[in-house]
Amino acid sequence: MKMTGNTILITGGATGIGLAMAEVFLREGNQVIICGRQKENLLLAQNKFPQIQYQVCDLASAADRQRMYEWTVSNYPELNILVNNAGIQRQIDFTKGTLDLMNGDDEIQINFSAPVQLTALFIPHLIKLKEAAIVNISSALGFVPLTIVPVYCATKAAIHSFSWSLRHQLRKTGVKVFEVIPPTVDTDLDRGARERRKQEYRGISATEVAEATLAGLVKNEPEIAIGQAQGLRGGTRAESEQMFQRMNGHW
Ligand SMILES: NC(=O)c1ccc[n+]([C@@H]2O[C@H](COP(=O)([O-])OP(=O)(O)OC[C@H]3O[C@@H](n4cnc5c(N)ncnc54)[C@H](OP(=O)(O)O)[C@@H]3O)[C@@H](O)[C@H]2O)c1
Repeated sequence: MKMTGNTILITGGATGIGLAMAEVFLREGNQVIICGRQKENLLLAQNKFPQIQYQVCDLASAADRQRMYEWTVSNYPELNILVNNAGIQRQIDFTKGTLDLMNGDDEIQINFSAPVQLTALFIPHLIKLKEAAIVNISSALGFVPLTIVPVYCATKAAIHSFSWSLRHQLRKTGVKVFEVIPPTVDTDLDRGARERRKQEYRGISATEVAEATLAGLVKNEPEIAIGQAQGLRGGTRAESEQMFQRMNGHW
């Protein structure tokens, strides 16, 4: 995929991996639009990279997704890459009944339903273009779950499956479907879970993920597995079981 001269929407692009991707894509000569719920973070991102355009948007809301889609294609009809990056991660202990599950944001909605719905909205626009792409950010945890964040892992497994089907459905169009599979990355996403299991390893940097994503897109790698995620994605069931025990065996 040619990775210069594109117009790219990165959901959740104000922080972490999304912001690192924005920086790398801008450097390569692309136009970048970001969205998220917190205006202060979007403004901080724009202060850092004045070329960035942003919209405040809660992707859990159907009305906001529709508004985001309409605003983007009317202001940026040349938009040709959608990066479904926004996500949250929550610790949920099912031994406590519905307590954790019912309090707080809905991971299924934000991590899975929202990218599926947003993708469906953008496909009629993207399909008209000669070269376009949908880039979904899943996770190594979609391949082997970390049981402290069970719903998160399930949403990422779902994103993997969805990306695979979508790639096949769109194979005769100009829309390529990529899945980026990061390992643990040093962002604010899983800070709580990391602290709870007293994990000192903070993961690779968001910039490393962004650079690997760029390289994978240029090489047309449909599944861009990064660092330790390569082993988890490619492992046999026996290896996955071993990794599962290593990750979860102590609780
Ligand atoms: N960090 C890791 O170890 C890791 C590993 C594998 C995969 N990933 C995936 O990478 C992606 C980016 O995560 P990150 O690590 O960079 O964490 P992050 O810094 O917390 O980024 C998540 C972004 O998503 C946005 N977001 C969350 N809910 C939203 C909603 N309802 N509507 C619009 N935007 C929303 C957040 O902005 P607002 O709060 O302002 O809305 C935030 O900018 C996620 O999909 C995550 O699952 C992360």
